[in-house]
Amino acid sequence: MTNNNTVYIEQLKNQTGQDVTLKGWLYNSRSSGKLIFLIVRDGTGLCQCIVEKGKVCDELFDKLSHLGQESSLTVTGTVRADDRSGGGYELAVTGAEIICPTTDYPITPKSHGVDFLLKHRHLHFRSQRQWCIGKIRHTVIDAIRRCFNDNGFILIDTPIFTTIVGEDQTSLFEVDYFGTPLHLTQTGQLYLESAAMAFGKVYCFGPTFRAEKSKTRRHLTEFWMVEPEVAFIDLPGLLELAENFVSFIVAQVLRNNTSELETLGVNIQALERITPPFYRLTYTEVGEILTGPKTKDFLAKQLEEFQNHKRELDAKIADLEAEQSGKIKQWKKDKIAAELIELRSTLAETETKIENNPKHAQLAAEFTWGKDLGGSDETIISLMHDKPVFVTHYPKQAKAFYMKTDRSNEKVVENFDLLAPDGFGEIIGGSAREDDHDRLLEGIKQQGLNPETYNWYLDLRKYGSVPHGGFGLGVERTVAWITAEKHIRQCIPFPRMADKVYI
Ligand code: 4AD
Repeated sequence: MTNNNTVYIEQLKNQTGQDVTLKGWLYNSRSSGKLIFLIVRDGTGLCQCIVEKGKVCDELFDKLSHLGQESSLTVTGTVRADDRSGGGYELAVTGAEIICPTTDYPITPKSHGVDFLLKHRHLHFRSQRQWCIGKIRHTVIDAIRRCFNDNGFILIDTPIFTTIVGEDQTSLFEVDYFGTPLHLTQTGQLYLESAAMAFGKVYCFGPTFRAEKSKTRRHLTEFWMVEPEVAFIDLPGLLELAENFVSFIVAQVLRNNTSELETLGVNIQALERITPPFYRLTYTEVGEILTGPKTKDFLAKQLEEFQNHKRELDAKIADLEAEQSGKIKQWKKDKIAAELIELRSTLAETETKIENNPKHAQLAAEFTWGKDLGGSDETIISLMHDKPVFVTHYPKQAKAFYMKTDRSNEKVVENFDLLAPDGFGEIIGGSAREDDHDRLLEGIKQQGLNPETYNWYLDLRKYGSVPHGGFGLGVERTVAWITAEKHIRQCIPFPRMADKVYI
């Protein structure tokens, strides 16, 4: 609080009975003759401010009753506790100052299409949903740094312009670096391995670029990845590190963002289950599940649920359409119109799920040992579990050159993907690294990479090579899973996708 009694909305709980000033923007308003209800937001929350005719001068009352959404203003009044108001407190207004009156703000409280909102991302941030996601993203990033900093990891900033291929050659962004072709980083891992040999436990955290053509809800071309790397660790040790790390992130969000989770309608109990140990399956076991009766029964039951849901939605939509065509007040008509937009969008999603169900069943039945798991395979496995699932020991031929060959079964590597539950899918990929010089060189050659560019990386296996490993967690995927947001583009401030960059 400053000396003129200006407070943030999040501080109102300590101010009952006090006269305070809020500085913010008009989120929404309605008026009923003698009263105006202004919903003001100030970046820390929303507060209902009630203006009573006669308590402010007539000129101000008139201006406030016509004030447009997102006008900026200061409001002064007395703080009252009120359970009906969102944050539990409201302001009985005694004065106000309009800083910048606004008309025709493009994003109204009604529903808008995704395209429209992405084109208006610079304004869409102010909406309740994006604000909640932004706050949760902040907590996730803070938890990531905290977890590693408090456990003896050293932060190493790995380069963004890179000379070597870190993951897969097909998704490289090439840049002309003063006449030499370089790539934007796909992973900091290889550089981080050299740092792990110097510091023992390290991590990097930064933007990551992949020229992914896939336009799925899980792919961006620019995303944030955190990657820890540890010397003297084996695969079981990595799984333990990853499950403790993910559980810590979720616990921090539960601690700091309950009201945002509630606003987003997230299943908080499901998040409370995210504690170690997570489930562990090998790739081969996943194959057995996908081709076995469990998956068949599971998908059949799911199809039935989707069809029932579709019937319910159809009925609800028909009822609302009938009500809308009757003689009702305009505000009620607007309310029904907004509800219908939501319901029709859920219906479209349910219809897509019904359409995809047999395709997923077919893909699962056609599982062939040796290929990487597809998105739908991951979705099925993660839908079958109420906690994250580690899938380990993938076929060597399906994975990156740096992964350590399992010495007890040379067909597989000591790697893992972590699938978030309830159908979300992969949020982490990691592995033990091949620490034998000759095997690593062989792997580089087999994948058609130029061994010369990897000389420095191979050096790490010549000079004091030790067992080591690490993993990468995608920030946007983690935020999307925790916030139950369907598309990860909503979980980064300014998304970059294969088909579109809006602003
Ligand atoms: O599984 P990935 O490709 O692993 C690596 O890059 C390793 N080098 C990491 C390591 O071992 N240090 O990617 C790791 C994670 C994925 O699980 C996913 O969460 C995220 O990065 N990710 C993406 N997120 C958004 N859009 C994309 N196109 C992504 N590709 C990967």
